[in-house]
Amino acid sequence: MDFITKIKQSSDYLKKEINIKPDIGLVLGSGLGILADEIKNKTTIKYSDIPNFPKSTVKGHKGQLVIGELEGKKVIAMQGRFHYYEGYPLKDVTFPIRVMKDLGIEKLIVTNAAGGANKSFKPGDLMIIKDHINFGFDNPLIGENFEELGPRFPDMSNAYSKDLINTAYDVSKELNIDIKEGNYMFLTGPSYETPAEIKMVTYLGADAVGMSTVPEVIVAVHSGIEVLGISCITNMAAGILEQPLSHKEVIETTEKVKDDFIMLIRKILFNI
Ligand code: HPA
Repeated sequence: MDFITKIKQSSDYLKKEINIKPDIGLVLGSGLGILADEIKNKTTIKYSDIPNFPKSTVKGHKGQLVIGELEGKKVIAMQGRFHYYEGYPLKDVTFPIRVMKDLGIEKLIVTNAAGGANKSFKPGDLMIIKDHINFGFDNPLIGENFEELGPRFPDMSNAYSKDLINTAYDVSKELNIDIKEGNYMFLTGPSYETPAEIKMVTYLGADAVGMSTVPEVIVAVHSGIEVLGISCITNMAAGILEQPLSHKEVIETTEKVKDDFIMLIRKILFNI
């Protein structure tokens, strides 16, 4: 089956299950899935029930779509995402973005847990992603390009919408959240970085590192979707503090910031 037919098949299945057309997509990262619990009048659909969807394997990731209303907006949220390190090709990692586009989303808010490489950050900070560096040495657009999905050579000079960044910034001020801004670098994982790699990361201009988001943003931009990215700095990246990194710390930090995170995203949704 060709790629377009696969997308249509997934999206036709979802259209039968839901009775709204979503306008905004949300990708909820590790520990941040709780936001989907706030969605009203919701329909929940397990990834495993959707034709052509891969299956999520990471603990702390639920693996389902939640569709409904939040702050008066029609949203479709991914509670859990697919990662390159799980072994999926980037075409599969980003497949849900193609399907959400086909369902009608025009904006996408992507979130993630990230390691802070910028020494002025601290665990628990929220960071607006200004721009990214693809350090995964792969790209979801490699292979045949389907013009109906987007151009062969998409411009990435404004991958993260200035309007959405400004809204996120204004909203965080109103909420008294000391939000950070920075560049996010995608590395494949699943091993965390070494201190030497983090030194390199900072030389290259990244403020935060993580194992997701960039492939999804590339596909969203290719599809003509407006993107906002928010990282939760769950830990300082390797070598910055004298302590080992752990997934437990990542989840514990997201637990601590969840109230701010939920308030922030809700208020952004209200304003866009
Ligand atoms: N490195 C990469 N990915 C991450 C980190 C990190 O330090 N923290 C959360 N996700």
